[in-house]
Amino acid sequence: MGRGAGDQDTGTLGGCKSLDGQDGADDREQEIVAAVREIERAYGAQTLLYSLIEKIGGEVDVDRICRVAVQEMEDALGASTLLLMLLDEPTGALSVKAASGVCADRAEGFRLRPDACVIGRALRSLRPIAARCGEGVERLPFPADYLLSVPMVVRGRTIGAILACDKKAGGEFLTPEIKLACALAAYVGAALSNAFLIAHKEAQAAALSKSDRLLRQSYENLLQADKMATLGLIVGTALHDVNNFLTTISGHVQLLEMSDPDPHRRASYRNVLRATDGIRGLIQGIQGFSRKSAEAYALLDVRRPLEEAISLIEKFLTVNRIRLIRAFRTGLPPIMGSLNQLEQVFLNLIQNAAHAMGMGGALTLSADAEGGDVVLTVADTGCGIPEEHIGQVFDVFFTTKPAGKGTGLGLSICKRIVEEHGGSVGVESEVGVGTRFTIRLPGVRNVSDFNGVSRAVYPDVKTFQSPVSFL
Ligand SMILES: Nc1ncnc2c1ncn2[C@@H]1O[C@H](COP(=O)(O)OP(=O)(O)OP(=O)(O)O)[C@@H](O)[C@H]1O
Ligand SMILES: [Mg+2]
Repeated sequence: MGRGAGDQDTGTLGGCKSLDGQDGADDREQEIVAAVREIERAYGAQTLLYSLIEKIGGEVDVDRICRVAVQEMEDALGASTLLLMLLDEPTGALSVKAASGVCADRAEGFRLRPDACVIGRALRSLRPIAARCGEGVERLPFPADYLLSVPMVVRGRTIGAILACDKKAGGEFLTPEIKLACALAAYVGAALSNAFLIAHKEAQAAALSKSDRLLRQSYENLLQADKMATLGLIVGTALHDVNNFLTTISGHVQLLEMSDPDPHRRASYRNVLRATDGIRGLIQGIQGFSRKSAEAYALLDVRRPLEEAISLIEKFLTVNRIRLIRAFRTGLPPIMGSLNQLEQVFLNLIQNAAHAMGMGGALTLSADAEGGDVVLTVADTGCGIPEEHIGQVFDVFFTTKPAGKGTGLGLSICKRIVEEHGGSVGVESEVGVGTRFTIRLPGVRNVSDFNGVSRAVYPDVKTFQSPVSFL
C-alpha cells in the first residue's frame, strides 16, 4: 500500500491530556522528547543536505553529479540500494544513470517504462510514494520488499526519479525519510537541470563558433576567388603576349635549324623548339583554368610523352647526379589524349622530384596497366611532403619554394590536365624518405572504336580533332 508524505508516523506536539496531574506531566515529557527528536531529525536532514550541496554544488558534469548523489542519498536514507533514473523524453522510458548499494551492479543499464509501477505512479502524481513491494515492482532486476520513489521535478518538468529500496534497518520508509528524500531529490534535480543547461549552452556555443568559422572561411574564399579572378585577367593578358613572343622565337629557331649544317647544333635547336612547345602547352594549361583548351586528342602510347619529357630534362638530372630508373611495361593499352599536355604533366612532376632531391637521388618512372587503366608513377627519394601540406599541393598557387623559384601552378595544372583526360592523380609521401605521384588514365580497350571517334567510351574527353592518328 502507498503512503503519502503527509502521513504521521511519529508522535507530534499536541496529544490527548488526562485529568490526572501525573499523566499531564508524562504527556508533556513525551511531547518534549518527541519535539527534541524532531529537531534532531531536522538538524540531521539539514546536515545531509549541506553535505550534498557541498559535494555537487557548482558541478557541471552530469555523471559526477549522479555518482555522488546516489552515494550520499543511500547513506542519508539508510537504503540498501539507491537508484537515480533519468527520463528519456522522446521514449518516455526511465533508465538507471547511477546506482549505489548492495544491488547496484544488478541495476546497471536497467530501463523501464514507468507505466503501472510505483515509480510510474510517483512520476504521474509528481509526489513521493513509499510502498511495500507488490504489483509492478517485480520489474526491478533485483528483489526488494519496500520502495520509496521520489520524482525529480524541475520547474514543473519531470526529469527522472530517485528509487530507494529496502532500508538497511528494515521496515518501510517513513515520513522523515520521505521528507528528506524529497529535499535531496529536489536539490539533485536542480543540479542536474543546471548541468544539462550548461552542456546545452556549450554545445550551442560550439555550433555557433563553428558556423562563425565557416562563415569567415567562405568570406575568405570569396575574397580569394575575387583576387584570383582579377589575377586571371592580368595573367591571361600577359600569357597572350608571351605566346606571341614564343611564336617569334620558335620561328627564328626553326629557320636556324633548317639552315645549320652542324648536326649537334640542329639537335640543340630541336630541343629549344620542344621547350617552346612545352611553354605553349603550359600557357594553354593556365588559360584552361578560365576556359577549356581546344587541344587535339589522339590515340597514343603513354611512354611517348614520358620519353619526350625525359629528353628535355635528362641532362639536368645527370648534372645533379640523379639516377633515372625506367620501369615501363610493354603492351600497355593506348590512351586517348594530348601528347603536349601529358608531356607537360610528366615534366612538371619530374622537375618537382628533381627539386625535392637536390644533388643526388633516384627517380623511378613506371608505367603499368591495371583494370583497363594505364597507371604511371613518378617516385623520388627527396625531402618528402609534410603531412600538413599534402592536402594542399594540388591547390593553385600553393608553393613552398622561395619567390621566383616556384609559382605553385605546376601540380594544379597537372591535376587539371589529367582530369580533362578522364584520369586521376594522387600523391603519397613520407618526410625524409620520398614522394610518389600516381596518375591513372583510362586505357582504350577497342582501338577500332576510335576510327569513328566514339564519345560514349570517354565522355570526359570533350575535344576530338579528326583525323585520329596513332602516335
Ligand atoms: N616530389 C616532391 N617532393 C616534395 N615536395 C613536392 C614534390 N612535388 C611537389 N611538392 C610540393 O608541392 C608544392 C607545389 O608544387 P607545384 O609543382 O604545384 O608548384 P612549385 O613546384 O612550387 O612551383 P611551379 O609552379 O614552378 O611548379 C611544391 O612547392 C612543393 O612544396
Ligand atoms: Mg612544380
